[in-house]
Amino acid sequence: MKMFVVFVILLHVSQHASAVESYEGDSFTLLYCQFNTPLLENPSVVWSRSDLSPPTVHQRQLQGDELKDQNQRYSGRTSMKTDALETGDLSLNLTNLQLSDSATYTCSIRDIIGELSRSDVQLQVKERFPSWAKALLVLLILLVVSGGLLFHFRQYFMPGESLLLHYP
Ligand SMILES: *[C@@H]1O[C@H](CO)[C@@H](O)[C@H](O)[C@H]1NC(C)=O
Repeated sequence: MKMFVVFVILLHVSQHASAVESYEGDSFTLLYCQFNTPLLENPSVVWSRSDLSPPTVHQRQLQGDELKDQNQRYSGRTSMKTDALETGDLSLNLTNLQLSDSATYTCSIRDIIGELSRSDVQLQVKERFPSWAKALLVLLILLVVSGGLLFHFRQYFMPGESLLLHYP
């Protein structure tokens, strides 16, 4: 019984929010969305970001993509399967990922009456090399270079020893 309750809770949560992680510079990522659009009359789907103005990221109608309201930053970077509304696979393909793409994306499905469903996908685009890793790398290089220099010019720092070596 307890197991069942936990299972139901997990199921409930996963239906309402999904999360995707990508790295800056990745060639593409897929934001998942599915709905039984084949059964609808005149369906359309809008992917949007409520924190942007205009909020539209991508829009698909029966006639095809409708991108005149698309936010500039997504220009030429979004696509959906050609037969998305016929199959119900409404996933959004976002290309050329940038740190500023990190956001919550909403997949909203409409028919002639109005909005039928809405689901969120949280996308997090991470830095491939975070700044602490870059700082560590620079520190390591400096350490190695200064170590090498010290070794190379060691006779200047230890004249006694070098005299001994050169004039035994
Ligand atoms: C997403 O779009 C890119 C560029 O058009 C393409 O190379 C890639 O295969 C697409 N990914 C999927 C899963 O459709």
